Amino acid sequence: LPATAQGGPVPAGNDVIVLGEVGALTGGQATFGISSRNGIALALKEANAAGGVKGKKLVVRVYDDQSKPEEAAQAVTRLITQDKVVLILGEVASSSSLAMAEKAQAAGVPMITPSSTNPTVTEKGDYIFRVCFIDPFQGFVMAKFARENLKLNKVAVLQDNKSAYSIGLTEVFRQKFAELGGKITVTESYSQGDTDYRAQLTAIKKTQPEGIYVPGYYSEVGVIARQARELGLKVPLMGGDGWDSEKLFELGGSAIDGSYFSNHYSPDNPDPRVQKFIADYKADNNGAVPDALAALAYDAARVAIDALKRAPDTSGPALRDAIAQTKDFPGVAGVITLDAKRNAVKSAVVLKVADGKTSYVTTIAP
Ligand code: PHE
Repeated sequence: LPATAQGGPVPAGNDVIVLGEVGALTGGQATFGISSRNGIALALKEANAAGGVKGKKLVVRVYDDQSKPEEAAQAVTRLITQDKVVLILGEVASSSSLAMAEKAQAAGVPMITPSSTNPTVTEKGDYIFRVCFIDPFQGFVMAKFARENLKLNKVAVLQDNKSAYSIGLTEVFRQKFAELGGKITVTESYSQGDTDYRAQLTAIKKTQPEGIYVPGYYSEVGVIARQARELGLKVPLMGGDGWDSEKLFELGGSAIDGSYFSNHYSPDNPDPRVQKFIADYKADNNGAVPDALAALAYDAARVAIDALKRAPDTSGPALRDAIAQTKDFPGVAGVITLDAKRNAVKSAVVLKVADGKTSYVTTIAP
């Protein structure tokens, strides 16, 4: 099935600058794509209200990749060849961003992923950027939190072997947790879309861990939490940014209470700039509180707009150079300075899950 364009046709002509966006608006990671789309829409609305860029209005062409890397890659080809976009925003899931980056790099069209954290994404080439931290840091954050805050000695890991993100985070966590003096009792695997995790959880239970690291996406993690509790595994679960979705609470219910995950941003941040973003986002989205995806996508779009303003023209090389020079950019999910590898170096927050919501616990700096 071809990717579907959302939001109707984009007006062509000399008075608009067309950006491309690829996201999971349907499928197992649908809340990721929807939040990202809403964050980008807010950034563009604000920029257009302030006069656009070089006298032109900004518009975005959005394709739904249905949570599939193959569709994401195909959408990039369409955005470049058909829609002639100057720059691409997306994806969230690292496996999809990896498939997209290949195409964007080959065509010389800059791509900014708001939220893909697997280090290999930006290694695809000099046209590929991100505005978030990377997983060698994120894995360290939860390993450190597990050792120093939760005082855990023995932890099991349950990874999604279909996700570049989950595989990468598992590797880092295992290494860092051991370096900090902890022991990994066992590493078990599932495949994205599975619904029965009892065999893996039973194997994990036998090793008597004091916690379980589950670096997956919310769609699976919620179900894993329920099945773990049913099997009598009462220890805390820990995860990464992939847990960040309202749906986690729906799927996990009270089974997810008492768990922790690392993330890019907390809506509890009292910074007036963050609180203004939250208020504006809520006003446009029926009162929904923006999650990290919305915040990072808003930041990525604003970094793109800032580069469009600074670049001498909208050609690929000019935009690539302008994005690469991003420095001390005040994002709502942290200040963004892009390093030589086109990654942002930022702090992470740890959030606790209880009673159907998250609460801020601590910030861990790189
Ligand atoms: N970091 C995840 C990945 O690379 C995506 C993600 C980011 C999901 C932020 C939720 C919140 O696959």
